[in-house]
Amino acid sequence: MRLILINGPNLNLLGKREKSIYGFKSLASIESDLKKEADSYGIALECFQSNSEGDVVNRIHECLGSIDGILINAGAYTHTSIAIRDALLGVDIPYVELHLSNTYSREEFRQKSFLSDTAVGLVSGFGSYSYSLALQGLIFYLRDSK
Ligand code: DQA
Repeated sequence: MRLILINGPNLNLLGKREKSIYGFKSLASIESDLKKEADSYGIALECFQSNSEGDVVNRIHECLGSIDGILINAGAYTHTSIAIRDALLGVDIPYVELHLSNTYSREEFRQKSFLSDTAVGLVSGFGSYSYSLALQGLIFYLRDSK
């Protein structure tokens, strides 16, 4: 099983950015812990981050034929990007949407997601632990659907 974690804009600033909301852990540390966790399940996990919508779309396209499942924290693009939604639907690879913060307890503009209704599931509000929960959920889903 081959999985990818895709992070969108500003998530490269984790550990420095709005720490009371997003916590103290850096993206490098989240990625390294998640790779170890995936490895413990015998699963290869690749990690990708970009601040650019087009790069996220391109990386999703490149998953065709090489990736079985996608974990995605699209950051602010969650609330704006029909292009990322269309890319995910276009490649037809199961994905889990995740967020560090509970976006439904925040500003109204964060309470709209273009990704949720077509995701396998959504994890939101558990800080960096959201990544681990999303990984476990996606593995469970993919193993169960075989
Ligand atoms: C976020 C929530 C988004 O609303 C925000 O724009 C982010 C991070 C989260 O992980 O909580 O950049 O996706």
